[in-house]
Amino acid sequence: MELVHGHLSFGAPAGVRNWDLDPYSVEVQSDPASFYATLRERGAFSYLPQYSMLACGQYNVVREVFSDHERFVSSRGVGVQDFALEDPWRPPSIILEVDPPDHNRTRRVLMRALSPKAVADLRAYLLMEARSLVARMLERGRIDGVADLAEVYPTTVFPRALGMKQSDARKLVDYGSMVFNALGPDNAQRRAAMAMGPEVVPWITMQCDRANLSLDGIGAAVYAGVDDGHVSEAEAGMLVRSLLSAGIDTTVTGIGNALWALSQNPAQFELLKDDPALAMAAFEETLRLTSPVAAFCRTACVDTVVADVKIAEGSKILCVLGAANLDPTRWDAPEIYDIKRRTVGHLALGAGVHMCVGQNIARAEGQAILMAIAEMVEKLEPNGEAVWRPNNAMHALERLPLRVR
Ligand code: HEM
Repeated sequence: MELVHGHLSFGAPAGVRNWDLDPYSVEVQSDPASFYATLRERGAFSYLPQYSMLACGQYNVVREVFSDHERFVSSRGVGVQDFALEDPWRPPSIILEVDPPDHNRTRRVLMRALSPKAVADLRAYLLMEARSLVARMLERGRIDGVADLAEVYPTTVFPRALGMKQSDARKLVDYGSMVFNALGPDNAQRRAAMAMGPEVVPWITMQCDRANLSLDGIGAAVYAGVDDGHVSEAEAGMLVRSLLSAGIDTTVTGIGNALWALSQNPAQFELLKDDPALAMAAFEETLRLTSPVAAFCRTACVDTVVADVKIAEGSKILCVLGAANLDPTRWDAPEIYDIKRRTVGHLALGAGVHMCVGQNIARAEGQAILMAIAEMVEKLEPNGEAVWRPNNAMHALERLPLRVR
């Protein structure tokens, strides 16, 4: 059978309608709201003929497909390509792009390195850096929330927490852009990101070496898995690579999106200022509302049925987390940013065995920066139009002009 975008093409299953919409277009990626709503309204699944792919956006359906690793695997890639049929651009991740039981071993090593205890030890440092960055922003008054704050904070604190001896903020952000854009089809976004490869990839690979990591960081804790016999030296390097792949762009986006949500919702910002202990809740609600990881794929590894739709083995399914997190059958007034909302069950950090292994540190970073803002910033206002950055998997800002005082 012929491959389409690196996977098998089956046509629409019975009962599923074709939809001539391009979720990878610049228009949809810049403003996905109507894509999300229509995808949910059309039914459990839509078939995208342009990509020979199913797409789902209803909360229950996305959750079922995304979290059932026995029927919908990650080892065949979480983007459009089927790794069983076409080689990926880099050796697959040994955590994200692998299934149980192999996944259990590497997951355990990262769980330990990123445990609540490991992150608790970082909290004072995270808050200190957050306060110092916010103080610098206040001196300037007018900032770009993305370039001046959201990109600066994780690229400062995360390499330090990891124990990187050398850091380069631009290369870290660009590598994240490559990893996430690579999940999409061969479009302009993917090509622009991949063009950065020759400069970025060798540098990233080098930073994953044990010799380039301090003895006391998260990286060293990953390499402790070698000493304990759980992973090989090469595997530990691959796991550090996973942290550099997934640990920067995601938090940059989460923090940028939080600044956007708070600047757009002054009453919610006032609530946060009145009670900075709401910082964690405000970050969590940002994740639900804006879904920084907007959509990842799964591949059916058996013939199966979901929501009465027969799905053939080998089918690629685009799981649109952003649509599920705004499903009105799951959330009251889902479009409203409400930092007091009960957000448990949102899918922004995934679900099931692959649920974000960096969630403790991601939340700690988000909480620290929002807490510093709540304590120190009187007013956080838009100073021009926010511009979203097209990306094949993320919903991220390009520019966020802000006035802070
Ligand atoms: C707000 C920030 C973040 C968001 C929204 C986010 C989102 C996600 C999502 C949706 C998944 C599930 C992917 C899947 O099931 O296919 C995931 C997995 C993962 N995340 Fe995060 N993430 C964030 C921060 C981080 C950080 C800071 C790190 C590293 C310290 C990290 C490392 C990982 C890794 C290694 C996986 C794969 C886990 C596995 O396959 O078992 N993430 N993340």
